[in-house]
Amino acid sequence: MTRTRVGIVGAGPAGLLLSHLLHLDGIDSVVVEVRTRREVEETIRAGVLEQTTVDLLEQVGLGARMWRDGDVHTGFALRFRGRDHRIDLPAHTGGRAIMLYPQHQVLKDLITARLAAGGTILFGASDVAVEDIAQARPSIHLSLDGRRETVSCEILAGCDGFHGVCRPAIPATARQDYARIYPFGWFGILCRAPRQADELVYANTDRGFVLLSTRSEAVQRLYFQCDPADHVDAWSEDRIWSEFRSRLDTEDFRVASGPIFQKNIVQMRSFVCEPMQHGRLFLAGDAAHTVPPTGAKGLNLAVADVFILARAFSTFFRTGASEALESYSATALRRVWRAQHFSWWMTSMLHLFPEASAFDRRRQLAELELVTTQTSATAMLAENYVGWKLS
Ligand code: FAD
Ligand code: DHB
Repeated sequence: MTRTRVGIVGAGPAGLLLSHLLHLDGIDSVVVEVRTRREVEETIRAGVLEQTTVDLLEQVGLGARMWRDGDVHTGFALRFRGRDHRIDLPAHTGGRAIMLYPQHQVLKDLITARLAAGGTILFGASDVAVEDIAQARPSIHLSLDGRRETVSCEILAGCDGFHGVCRPAIPATARQDYARIYPFGWFGILCRAPRQADELVYANTDRGFVLLSTRSEAVQRLYFQCDPADHVDAWSEDRIWSEFRSRLDTEDFRVASGPIFQKNIVQMRSFVCEPMQHGRLFLAGDAAHTVPPTGAKGLNLAVADVFILARAFSTFFRTGASEALESYSATALRRVWRAQHFSWWMTSMLHLFPEASAFDRRRQLAELELVTTQTSATAMLAENYVGWKLS
């Protein structure tokens, strides 16, 4: 049996950053993770960090590699009818921008910092379960190297992502789930090729959405809208490149192809669980809510959740007052729903819906015209894309 103040389930961005923030406030925690350290550090996911996320990571001592290897982007393009329309972020947001720095690099920085500070992360756990979530001493049970272990704590943080065990541990009668599943997924690749463009390109095309992103001069991250039931093995390199070319190639633009070394398909889903707390169990990040990735909000929301949560835990442990704990869910949900709306809106504006009529298609193009030509509409997009200040 291990005793700690905060038991954290999940070593994703939410769990690891929470553990780091608590440590800076002198609060002990244990993180339990089903995957190995290597799997955590090698899973390819998000790329875009909002300005607020960048500022926070820097403030808490995690800025060195991010500033060295990350790339500040001051704009991106919306491409429709084959033409790019640049959204200038600082011009519309009082100087704010975003950083391209991959999620797995953020995770490496967090793991290094936690381990250097003597933190405990139990990688490779199995049969993880939470117990007594509404009692004063909840616990996490797990198997590690063939032994059963228990982490007994005062507060539990459920940071175990959409498919974790924490949210289902809250009785169905005590929570309300809100969900929307989209009739498409994203086919994502990593390839060795030159940059397709100077900045990110979100393209609305007659054959469906494409996102051109990057990881370095030589490695590119590209996505195209696909059938969510499709399988990566059904897509050879040739077929993938011919799909990109058919959506993007014009007289002025040619897709730059190269060897593909990673491919995956993600389902597009909007989901919120309310409230984000039950008794002594607090949900944060994808465990409580997910957004379709079009607005680049998921990781940033996870960061905002744990920023609020760490402050609430600190106040609770320092003073014994539980008001901050009790207001966590309502405070976090305000931002969550703003991000839900933004992510749904970006997704709806940029993707091809199977049931879309010719009218819907024209309306979508008119909306893209609006956000790229009317200053107030462009500002609305830019402000929401760079994100909101932490409250
Ligand atoms: P996760 O990252 O899912 O971490 C949860 C952890 O819990 C995992 O390590 C998991 O192994 C572990 N776990 C699960 N079950 C258990 C269990 N039973 N016991 C113990 N551990 C468990 N967001 C952005 O902000 N910007 C972007 O540009 C962006 N792009 C994206 C692109 C794609 C293709 C995808 C798929 C996502 C993107 N996101 C983006 C979203 C972002 O990746 C997620 O929102 C983010 O990972 C959420 O972090 P988290 O810590 O809440 O959950
Ligand atoms: C990336 C992912 C996103 O969801 C997005 O909106 C922009 C960039 C990326 O993986 O680089």
